[in-house]
Amino acid sequence: RVSLVTCTAPVNIAVIKYWGKRDEDLILPVNASLSVTLHQDQLKTTTTVACSRSFQRDRIWLNGREEDISHPRLQSCLQEIRRLARKRRSAGDHSPDISSMSHKLHVCSVNNFPTAAGLASSAAGYACLVYALARLFGVEGELSSIARQGSGSACRSLYGGFVQWNLGERPDGTDSLAEQVAPESSWPELRVLILVVSAEQKSVGSTSGMHTSVETSQLLKHRADAVVPGRMEQMRRAIRQRDFQTFGELTMKDSNQFHAVCLDTYPPIFYLNHVSQQIITLVHHYNQHHGETKVAYTFDAGPNAVIYTLQEHLPEFLQLLRLVFPSEVPEEEFVRGLPVSPAE
Ligand code: DP6
Repeated sequence: RVSLVTCTAPVNIAVIKYWGKRDEDLILPVNASLSVTLHQDQLKTTTTVACSRSFQRDRIWLNGREEDISHPRLQSCLQEIRRLARKRRSAGDHSPDISSMSHKLHVCSVNNFPTAAGLASSAAGYACLVYALARLFGVEGELSSIARQGSGSACRSLYGGFVQWNLGERPDGTDSLAEQVAPESSWPELRVLILVVSAEQKSVGSTSGMHTSVETSQLLKHRADAVVPGRMEQMRRAIRQRDFQTFGELTMKDSNQFHAVCLDTYPPIFYLNHVSQQIITLVHHYNQHHGETKVAYTFDAGPNAVIYTLQEHLPEFLQLLRLVFPSEVPEEEFVRGLPVSPAE
């Protein structure tokens, strides 16, 4: 007998960036972060997990290719979920024990976007895996601390809308969890555009990049201690009040500071390229023209731009993008702004 569950999880894009770990095994951050979870229809991972006595061993396929199941982060997630499933059973649940080691797992995961484009695929991937396994094993409760151990940013993809990942204080990480700040429905006019500048794999992965930043950047320390706590507070308020002016300005400043930390890292890390810089300049010109912040950019560990704006400015901004990057920008009917919804 095979038990099987399929789930999907969306990508999330941070507006206050996570960069740096205080514990690399448990994946505990040096600062809190806040993100917007995109809508399920757009960038998502679909994962099927199956377990059976007839499977010889645990196996995993990503986008049709078998990968190494012994990857430590993957193992952390599998072990945590199996541990919780055993705990549930010892608490008196008498459903068939599919979490026992006699039942092996097969995991099959696909992204509906190019994994190589570096678009937060690990966030959706680990969120989806953990959610699907929890369903399969009947585990309930706080899953974000398990997804976090797969990839830090993954803990935020378990919730829809606007989500914060709390810094936490405890050394065991039990208080470093994600929580929803506001549901997607609270700001229906907000739109997200992803401008794929390069589909190439990033030069320095986030994990090794942030490791070097923690070791060498003084700006990172200043950011974590003196900047992010205040910004988290301001950002939560801006979201609750639907204040795009503040939301947009903080988003851009935080992206810029994150890339400044990368430059302050020794040796320095460059994620932005000349097209990214053109987009930054364009957004500032557009906002100056309007006399206020109508559009905001943010960049993760790569050159691709994520644009936040409100529906009312989308057509005009797309028109401008088409002027600057002729033939690169699809017609408006193919462009949908997003947020939001959690794993389902
Ligand atoms: C720049 O979550 O990919 O996108 O925890 O090492 O897996 P690991 O890193 P990851 O880092 C994401 C960094 C970021 C900012 C963010 O999403 O907050």
